[in-house]
Formats: sequence, C-alpha cells, structure tokens
Amino acid sequence: MSEGVAIVTGAGRGIGAAIARRLAADGLTVTCADVDGAAAASTAKECAQDSTGVAVDVSRVPECERLVKETVDRFGRLDVLVNNAGVNRDAMLHKMTDAQWDEVIAVDLSGVFYMTRAAARIMRERGSGRVINISSASWLGNVGQANYAAAKAGVVGLTLTAARELARYQVTANAICPGFIDTAMTRSIPEKIYQQQLEKIPLGRVGRPEDVANVVSFLASGDAAYVTGEIINVGGGYRI
Ligand code: NAI
Repeated sequence: MSEGVAIVTGAGRGIGAAIARRLAADGLTVTCADVDGAAAASTAKECAQDSTGVAVDVSRVPECERLVKETVDRFGRLDVLVNNAGVNRDAMLHKMTDAQWDEVIAVDLSGVFYMTRAAARIMRERGSGRVINISSASWLGNVGQANYAAAKAGVVGLTLTAARELARYQVTANAICPGFIDTAMTRSIPEKIYQQQLEKIPLGRVGRPEDVANVVSFLASGDAAYVTGEIINVGGGYRI
C-alpha cells in the first residue's frame, strides 16, 4: 500500500515503534498511540508524512473511541489498525494476583477488542481495511504466563472472528505471533531464562522488532489482499 492511514498502538518503543516506522516508510500516515504520550510523539517524529503521536490507554473504551474518531476526523480515513500494545505481569498460577490477571487481560485482550470494534465500524462502511493483531507464541500456553497466554489466545479467537465477520466488507484480519524479540519486554527476563529461550530458536538468534514489522508491512500491503484469518508465527522457528 503506498498511501493510506494507519493506527499503531504501543508505538512508543519496541515492536510497535518499528511497525510505525516501517508503515510510514511504506507511505502510510501513522497515528502512533501509546500510554506514554511522549514516547509516541518521539516515534511519530521518526515517521514520514503527517504522522502524529497521541497518549492513549487502550484499556479505556473512551480513549480508544477517541483515537479512532480523531484519526478519521484528521485524515479522512482509516486503512490499517495494528493492535500491538501489550504488557506482561508474569507469575506462577498459584501466586498470580487478581491485579496481575486483570491488568494483562485489560490491556492485551480488552484493548484489542475496544480498538477493533471502533475501527471495524469505519472499515465496514468504507468497504476496505486491515486489522493486524500482535498476539504471541505464548498463546499456546507458557509457564508463568497464565494471564498473558489467556489474553493472547483470546486475541487469536477475536482475530479469527473478525476475519469471518468483516470479510464481506473486504476488511481482512490477521494475527502475528512473535517468538522471542529483542525489546524492553524480553530484556527484563532473568538472564538464565533468557539464555534458555535463545537456545530454543532454530534460526539461532533473538528476533529484531523489524522482523515483526516486515510481516506487518506485508499484511498491510496490496499483496496481502487475499490473506485473512491467518495466524502467522514470526519467531525464527521458535515454538513454546
Ligand atoms: P514493550 O514493552 O517494549 O512495548 C510495549 C509498548 O506498549 C510500550 O511503549 C508501552 O508504553 C505500550 N503500552 C503498554 N500498555 C499500554 C496501554 N494500556 N495502552 C497503550 N499502550 C500501552 O513490548 P514489545 O516487546 O515491543 O511488545 C509489543 C507487543 O508484542 C506486545 O503486545 C507483546 O505482548 C508482543 N510480543 C512481544 C514479544 C517479545 O518477545 N518482545 C513476543 C511476543 C509478543
């Protein structure tokens, strides 16, 4: 796609920032949204076109509705939604607090629903659009990540449903499951576990945010017009 408008959530750093930069380089105007507004603004500065940075907490319905409305009011359209914002609050199941559970579900699952619902209303009407959800290899279950795995599995179910509901409007919905990508999220993992994860990657290296952004770029492009309801692993062959 050489023109159009995209929203990328969690665009302040890591994978989301790489996605925003890539879509802008592809020719899209990007609204970079992040709970950290300053970080979102800083990513937007690195993006071409008329890209902007906005402070948005995706776990809050009114903020999601406002993000979509303001983007459409400002640019007149919305072509691509990338639901990338996510947090992890890892703990073993028997020790996981209600707060750890609730926060991850609110951001990683409900946030994707709020954003997708708001965008779907616009995209249905226009008769085109791309929803690209960032799930995780952990959706299949991972020790210490009951909350995160449940949320990311929920994102897969949501994506498959959106794909079916929206297909008749030529709106596609796909999910990407990154494996082990070099960002603040993975750098906070204890060294021993980090090394264990690294050894499980057949391609022999940790992923770069750009490895994920490349696949988002494809899914947002005209070349992916006939691809919907797919769950795409981007993990160098990594399996949980
Ligand atoms: P990160 O922690 O480096 O960046 C996440 C961004 O999301 C931050 O800028 C943060 O401020 C923002 N954010 C957090 N809560 C938010 C909220 N409520 N509203 C709006 N923005 C919010 O994480 P990373 O690694 O870049 O992850 C991006 C996505 O990729 C997440 O959904 C994550 O679950 C997923 N992922 C990451 C993997 C990895 O290895 N790094 C592997 C699999 C999936």
